[in-house]
Amino acid sequence: MEDEVVVEAKQLLVRYGDFTAVDHISFAVRRGEIYGFLGANGAGKTTTIRVLCGLLPPTSGDVRVAGIGYRQDEAPLKAVARPPWGMRISAGGYERVERTIKTKVGYMSQKFTLYNDLTVGENLDFIASLHKMAPAVYRRRRQELLEFISFKKNLGDMVGELSGGIKQQVSLAAAMLHDPEIVFLDEPTAGVTPAGRLRFWKLIRRLAENGKTVFVTTHYMDEAEQCGRIALMRDGRLIAEDSPAGLKKLIFPEPVFEFDPIKPLSFSELKSFETHEAFSFFQPYGHRFHAAAANAEVWARRAPDLRTIFSIRPIAPSLEDVFIRAIEGRR
Ligand SMILES: Nc1ncnc2c1ncn2[C@@H]1O[C@H](COP(=O)(O)OP(=O)(O)O)[C@@H](O)[C@H]1O
Ligand SMILES: [Mg+2]
Repeated sequence: MEDEVVVEAKQLLVRYGDFTAVDHISFAVRRGEIYGFLGANGAGKTTTIRVLCGLLPPTSGDVRVAGIGYRQDEAPLKAVARPPWGMRISAGGYERVERTIKTKVGYMSQKFTLYNDLTVGENLDFIASLHKMAPAVYRRRRQELLEFISFKKNLGDMVGELSGGIKQQVSLAAAMLHDPEIVFLDEPTAGVTPAGRLRFWKLIRRLAENGKTVFVTTHYMDEAEQCGRIALMRDGRLIAEDSPAGLKKLIFPEPVFEFDPIKPLSFSELKSFETHEAFSFFQPYGHRFHAAAANAEVWARRAPDLRTIFSIRPIAPSLEDVFIRAIEGRR
């Protein structure tokens, strides 16, 4: 079952009026994977997640989540409740699909998860009632999940008074309450402290170890590094998809080096490196620089000069470098 595909999109297209937010993207996620979605704001990540959670019907294309497939390439809404891909159900089909999908997926949305003016317990009660959970099942799950996130506060505490990190952990517990097989986490650690982010990712890894499939978006490259595979989104298109190491090779086929200045650099020197013929990529990285060699011959010719200014060592590019080159499209 390890390589079983549990989330799949084929030629998924989502338009808001005339505007194309998601432009014919295709991908497949296997059970137990941590699958990362990376892209600048507006790339179409949240829109894709909303389709996969059954909250937004696609304009066209096929989507299958936890064995439930659906499509909408003709009006009125038409949906497929089970394989094969081509089979359709009309008349309220999408609503039926939507209800079924919600039992299989958990969703931590980017903007809104818990009510600040309710207690932790009231929030969880409310979510349990939305899922129509039996009281005994709910209490057991709640206990398990509070232990899972090592919740040390009280159920009677107001959510608004929790720290950002704890609030996001409670949101995760809330998203997992009905024991979904797949969980969609949309920027779950935005605004969380570094220590809180580390704790949150420990939870993500444990979910995946327990066979849950995690679909996550983040702007933090140290988090992206922990994904099994990453999809890079730009302007609604999926421009690359691979493991972190694979993406680095794909986006940087040429050798990459770290440059550590051995003397202070002037601004004009720095500017000149950005357009230097030896580099196809030159970016600050902390107080150092990451540079990709434009071509071996130029590199060999210019390297002795450069070594009077920098101490140079070969490295694997960082995911930040990948993001800058692939997403922001800089040289
Ligand atoms: N309900 C909507 N109506 C019109 N445009 C939208 C709507 N939701 C999102 N968009 C637009 O679609 C694009 C993709 O948005 P979104 O999926 O939220 O991207 P991301 O999550 O990657 O930041 C953006 O340009 C956004 O402004
Ligand atoms: Mg978003």
